[in-house]
Amino acid sequence: MTLMKLVMPTLLLLLLNSSQTNCSQLYDNTTDMLSLLDFKEAVTNDPKGSLSSWNRTTPLCRWKGVKCSPTRPGRVVALDLSGQSLAGVITSSLGNLTFLEKLDLSTNQFSGLLPPLNHLHMLQVLNLSTNSL
Ligand SMILES: *[C@@H]1O[C@H](CO)[C@@H](O)[C@H](O)[C@H]1NC(C)=O
Ligand SMILES: *[C@@H]1O[C@H](CO)[C@@H](O)[C@H](O)[C@H]1NC(C)=O
Ligand SMILES: *[C@@H]1O[C@H](CO)[C@@H](O)[C@H](O)[C@H]1NC(C)=O
Ligand SMILES: *[C@@H]1O[C@H](CO)[C@@H](O)[C@H](O)[C@H]1NC(C)=O
Repeated sequence: MTLMKLVMPTLLLLLLNSSQTNCSQLYDNTTDMLSLLDFKEAVTNDPKGSLSSWNRTTPLCRWKGVKCSPTRPGRVVALDLSGQSLAGVITSSLGNLTFLEKLDLSTNQFSGLLPPLNHLHMLQVLNLSTNSL
């Protein structure tokens, strides 16, 4: 499958595990940062240097493609890395971005299996089109 377009929140509902809600880290910005750094680790090719701003000296909310919540400091609500020619596998750590509403990794060269994204209770848009998943 080279073309995979998923904008199906209802499908995602099937993946949810309602017993694992955790509100204790509501305002902790390290949770999402560690998840994204883990995701970055698995990127094997980044020809445009798209993830070079993803480092510990740049505030999380200024990382390229990352949009934070206006009401929950340090929590990521959107990740948009469309068209960045990124290659690698998509790690299950993205499933820890608890407040994520939009995940757009379309038009890259991600490959392998889509991991379980169990904790994305808020996800509304998932675009993985034009990858090698
Ligand atoms: C961290 O990101 C900034 C851009 O936000 C960049 O100027 C800097 O070179 C990066 N540092 C490293 C070590 O990659
Ligand atoms: C995390 O939040 C603290 C306090 O708001 C801020 O100083 C720091 O820059 C943030 N770290 C990142 C990586 O965003
Ligand atoms: C997700 O978060 C949990 C709890 O903080 C942690 O134990 C787990 O290793 C994380 N999973 C991934 C794939 O990052
Ligand atoms: C998904 O991404 C592709 C490529 O960026 C874009 O053409 C398409 O409109 C997007 N689909 C939706 C439903 O946003």
